[in-house]
Amino acid sequence: MNILLLGSGGREHTLAWKIAQSKQLTRLFIAPGNAGTALCGTNVDIDTLDFASIKTFVLDNNINMLVVGPEVPLVEGIHDYFLNDDTLKHIPVIGPQKKGAMLEGSKDFSKAFMMRHNIPTAAYKTFTKDTISDGVVFINSLKAPYVLKADGLAAGKGVIITDSSLEAVNVLNAMLADEMFGKASSRVVIEEYLHGIELSVFVATDGNSYKILPVAKDYKRIGEGDTGPNTGGMGSVSHVPFADAEFMKKVEDRIIIPTVEGLKQDKIPYKGFIFIGLMNVEGNPFVIEYNARLGDPETESVVPRIKSDIIDLFKGIANNNLHETVLEIDDRYAACVMMVANGYPDSYEKGNTISNLEMVKDSLVFHAGTKNDSNGNVITNGGRVIAVTSFGDTIEEALATSYKSVDIIDYKGKFFRRDIGKDLLK
Ligand code: AMP
Ligand code: GLY
Repeated sequence: MNILLLGSGGREHTLAWKIAQSKQLTRLFIAPGNAGTALCGTNVDIDTLDFASIKTFVLDNNINMLVVGPEVPLVEGIHDYFLNDDTLKHIPVIGPQKKGAMLEGSKDFSKAFMMRHNIPTAAYKTFTKDTISDGVVFINSLKAPYVLKADGLAAGKGVIITDSSLEAVNVLNAMLADEMFGKASSRVVIEEYLHGIELSVFVATDGNSYKILPVAKDYKRIGEGDTGPNTGGMGSVSHVPFADAEFMKKVEDRIIIPTVEGLKQDKIPYKGFIFIGLMNVEGNPFVIEYNARLGDPETESVVPRIKSDIIDLFKGIANNNLHETVLEIDDRYAACVMMVANGYPDSYEKGNTISNLEMVKDSLVFHAGTKNDSNGNVITNGGRVIAVTSFGDTIEEALATSYKSVDIIDYKGKFFRRDIGKDLLK
């Protein structure tokens, strides 16, 4: 089987690494990929939103399956594009169609979906430019902290949380009147703040049945102790001890089953992964957000724990027989530490040589923002640079191994959080 994987981050290197292990694979291509994916297959210089070039490549190279890593091509309708084209429609796409991707592409749509299907989530209201004054009244009816969310995709920056009602009103005006996030903030969801611990749950679905992947916790803030601005993610740990059988039964009964059934009831076909961002509020799960894809850097600790062939999982999703797919999971913990560029998530340097990658023996090294320069050296090419994942019988052991490997890898401006997973230790 020939597979084309879209994307270029740590998530995609991890998927490429896993796909490359399958005996069912003939050729793997990654568009556009990074220096790490180039070790697992062939990188192709095509933008993930250039659907016409993707089509030409797929047809010229006898691609049998398209696996979509990031959300933007899904929200822009790559799956619909394949289904609407007579030459492409027989090629399965792993990732939902536009309508299903709206679970991530519109906060208002996903909140209404959760309300309709009685899925626990924070109370909310949606406002537009014409209803700013109602929004101000709503803010003043809530207790701090205030949570404001741009409706559309805003590259992870569209959620603002503040303790000040005055700032909340200013942000509401900036989003709606001043188009702070362009079209993405033409609608704003204001919601109740949930107090608790977050958890990421990934569900694979063929639109009918589902499989729950190992759960993970990610660490979003740049600074230790969860301080400073939000990032794409500074590390992740899988499994998460508080997500025990009792808690996961609540997640399945109250959230996963109603979500998959809700999609069916609403006649929204869905073939791919649903990422459910949860808050554990005193033992009860509430949905913070849905994403239409796997998370990054959760994938870097979740996917290595899958022992079975990932192409079987993809085939189950594509062929409507996911219920027959056997998912074998490694019982060990996996811990991922993300190495970033100094300055990230604000401005940072690119183009610095990364050394000693080949000296790491005890961890998996997944590339995020890297590329090969003209001499074949691996250089930094993004804010998040390298994700280092290790296994262990305990979280401590997995983390200790990852941190040892992080110390080996070097580049100018290397930065990472030293407290990944610490909150999960007793
Ligand atoms: P989202 O993009 O919706 O995941 O929001 C980004 C982050 O903001 C989440 O990962 C949470 O840490 C936080 N957040 C979002 N909504 C809430 C909420 N209702 N209560 C508390 N924290 C929230
Ligand atoms: N780690 C959070 C995300 O992928 O959105």
